[in-house]
Amino acid sequence: MIKRRVVLAYSGGLDTSVAVHWLGKERGFEVIALALDVGQSGTDFAAIEERARAAGAIEVVVVDARQELADDFVLPTLQANALYEGRYPLVSALSRPLIVRHLVAAARRFGAEAVAHGCTGKGNDQVRFEVGTRALAPDLDIVAPVREWGMTREHAIEYAERFGLPVTASRDRIYSIDENLWGRAIECGVIEDPWESPPADVFALTAPPAGGTVDPVEVVVGFEAGRPVSLDGEELELVALIERLQGIAGARGFGRIDLVENRRVGIKSREIYEAPAALALVLAHQDLESLTLERDLAHEKLRLEPRFAELVYDGLWYSPLREALSAFVASTQRHVTGEVRLAFEPGGVARVAGRRSPVGLYDYGLATYDAADAFRHEDAEGFVRIFGLGIKTWASRQQATGPAPR
Ligand code: ARG
Repeated sequence: MIKRRVVLAYSGGLDTSVAVHWLGKERGFEVIALALDVGQSGTDFAAIEERARAAGAIEVVVVDARQELADDFVLPTLQANALYEGRYPLVSALSRPLIVRHLVAAARRFGAEAVAHGCTGKGNDQVRFEVGTRALAPDLDIVAPVREWGMTREHAIEYAERFGLPVTASRDRIYSIDENLWGRAIECGVIEDPWESPPADVFALTAPPAGGTVDPVEVVVGFEAGRPVSLDGEELELVALIERLQGIAGARGFGRIDLVENRRVGIKSREIYEAPAALALVLAHQDLESLTLERDLAHEKLRLEPRFAELVYDGLWYSPLREALSAFVASTQRHVTGEVRLAFEPGGVARVAGRRSPVGLYDYGLATYDAADAFRHEDAEGFVRIFGLGIKTWASRQQATGPAPR
């Protein structure tokens, strides 16, 4: 008898290791484990592959997807200056559609009829996996073992012990962490009380090197048509640039976010994020746009950016509206070339110290109040008179017929 196959998004952690075994035992699937390198620090993919096989996977696929994450998901999101609820740079929301793309590709390659993920029923990630999969492959079934089996962490550890699955979990794990190139998300433990300060041990990317101090520093970020291409004049691929900036900004404590956010499933949750490079690049990119985008275009873009962030957060990366918004954003980016000087100070402060662009719209002759002033002051009088004409007409009628405008 030919067994049904499923491709599981495998992280190497406790839940997805148990899921490999469970999908075989409880559901009769042959399991293909898919693990992606999305830039999670300190991950040993050889060990992950071993663990998946030991848990019973018939096949393990490991993909270095960092560049794909950077080019296809991070870049369009940076260009949209997308921050969910004004603050969260969508770290986890960007890797999910990437993982979905690879799940679907692996399902086709191995003739699987289903994909599976290790999300719980309370989060956004299940939405992103499932809506994304339905968009790319409406014919595939979706299995969510962790949502179905109702095991506590304790039970999952017992399950692993009973079936001899190698896991690295400890019973007293405190936080749930998701990490990629664009940042790190931390949930659970004491931070579930929104009043409590996050303890120092939640942070990994945003602290001075152990025992050391760091000096303030300036970094010049170079952009070419909306794409970050250099740091201090040194050309870098996007992945390397993000990693380098992560180190510089993170060492100065920049990039922490403490947010009570609205999940798609109706829950408010307290989240801690570290996203030093993401926040620094958004800051620089927004600033360069303020120099290079024409006023109406800039204002319209500002209106659309929160919508873009919302769609991505909600798992609608593969939707016609997200695609159309990205087309708009892409069309604006041809103007966004130049350099931004970012200043980082210890204590988590970053600011834009200066900016310049060969195609910038700042015109010194128009802006200056000194002798070089080239603005035609006499034109302003007529302009302002006509601009205010409607208001003037309205005000005089008001005065004639009722109380004066206040
Ligand atoms: N709340 C964030 C989001 O929805 C982070 C989710 C992190 N996921 C996790 N499994 N820890 O994007």
